[in-house]
Amino acid sequence: MATLYRKTNGQGVQVEDTRVVVVMVGLPARGKSLIAQKVVRYLRWLSIKAKAFNVGSYRRQDTPQPTADFFDTSNKDGERMRHAAAEAAVKDMLKWFKTDGGAVAILDATNSTKARRRWVRERCADNGIETLYVESKCDSEETIMANIMEVKTTSPDYEGQDPEAAALDFLNRIRNYEKVYETIDEDEKDLTYVKLIDVGKQVIINQIQDYLQSRVVYYLMNLHIRPRSIWLSRHGESEFNLSGKIGGDANISERGQLYARALPDLVASSVGDDRRLTIWTSTLKRTIQTARFLAASPKGYDKLEWKALDELDSGVCDGLTYQEIADQYPEDFKARDDDKYNYRYRGGESYRDVVIRLEPIIMELERSENIIIVTHQAVLRCIYAYYMNVPQEQSPWMEVPLHTLIKLTPRAYSTEEQRFDANIPAVSTFRSKGSTAKHQ
Ligand code: ADP
Ligand code: F6P
Ligand code: PEP
Repeated sequence: MATLYRKTNGQGVQVEDTRVVVVMVGLPARGKSLIAQKVVRYLRWLSIKAKAFNVGSYRRQDTPQPTADFFDTSNKDGERMRHAAAEAAVKDMLKWFKTDGGAVAILDATNSTKARRRWVRERCADNGIETLYVESKCDSEETIMANIMEVKTTSPDYEGQDPEAAALDFLNRIRNYEKVYETIDEDEKDLTYVKLIDVGKQVIINQIQDYLQSRVVYYLMNLHIRPRSIWLSRHGESEFNLSGKIGGDANISERGQLYARALPDLVASSVGDDRRLTIWTSTLKRTIQTARFLAASPKGYDKLEWKALDELDSGVCDGLTYQEIADQYPEDFKARDDDKYNYRYRGGESYRDVVIRLEPIIMELERSENIIIVTHQAVLRCIYAYYMNVPQEQSPWMEVPLHTLIKLTPRAYSTEEQRFDANIPAVSTFRSKGSTAKHQ
């Protein structure tokens, strides 16, 4: 069951137990699979057990490369096989809730008729599971054609086929669905649903039940598909980095200054065009100093300081080296190595805590376009883990060197990564499991 922690008037946390199926609705090429995958990534990042069940991939087991006629509702064999695929997906999904303790499943299919939606709702209700319908409605031919060219001509349904012929067949598939498609309307006013019209230009929300559903809906409302990138950089090398101390609010070192001066050109060379960026830093001196020249660039970038981007709070260990922590708090040092994601410093934070405080940052990033974030090692790992889908056991151990700019570009079903090395020497602050090395 979902355990989603909600802060209540500063008095502690409230835990909710919810199981919900997010039922995607819409014609083909309306972004349903993309939305399903993003919701799963977002929820997993928040430690909520989530999984997408894609009916198309069940159907593909028997009918790997159907032509458009397969999706014509007068095609009895096609209808039977598509129903069997939906049955198989729903069966696996219900099993997943029971045996794997799932919290949020996404049923990724067209679910384009009222009858099909009623059937899904009944199957879920019989098992005590809520349903939240997410309809993506878009009639812009230009958008649909762009979607088909971006993802459908390379789908396994058309592997080895000519892209133009594939696009034409896919358009015919859509025509077949259009004959029976019923948008969610007044007849379904008792359903819990959100309708995203024209890629979120208009959003209609109906009967949202609880906190978990409202988080998902709020996330969906913030998504857009305009091309953009996100740049991530740690601050330039700091005085604390040189002495191997963690935390604090130190100035950047001489080499850190060099990185700060080099950053505007490094960013310009990685932007590749005249896009306007907004700079986000933490409230700590080392990130503000690092972004100083970038902020003063003639391009006139806006700048914002976020407390939520401050480094993981190391509590009583703030200002110590790893060796000093191992000497003074040996049990803590070991406990952190055993479970670095969950270990919370005495009087400080864990990686899990940092993810929770970064949630509004992720939400704001989803709404925004081109952002460069100058932040800290642990915070950067958490943001990177969201975009690159890195599991919790791995994310706190990732190497993110100083004086390196990371550019992330969201694509349809994944995020593309490029790294730009400023070629300015810096110490390594990376510590591998078991080590107390000052610099590795
Ligand atoms: P579906 O699962 O509905 O067949 P996909 O998820 O495979 O569609 O389509 C992905 C494409 O849809 C991408 O090119 C993406 O930019 C686009 N897209 C994402 N969200 C939406 C939306 N809300 N409306 C229309 N297109 C979208
Ligand atoms: O050493 C730099 C630093 O940003 C410290 O301030 C912080 O405590 C640490 O890295 C986080 O990395 P780790 O979780 O690997 O100790
Ligand atoms: C499919 O077979 O590709 C598919 C998604 O089917 P449905 O119409 O059931 O969603």
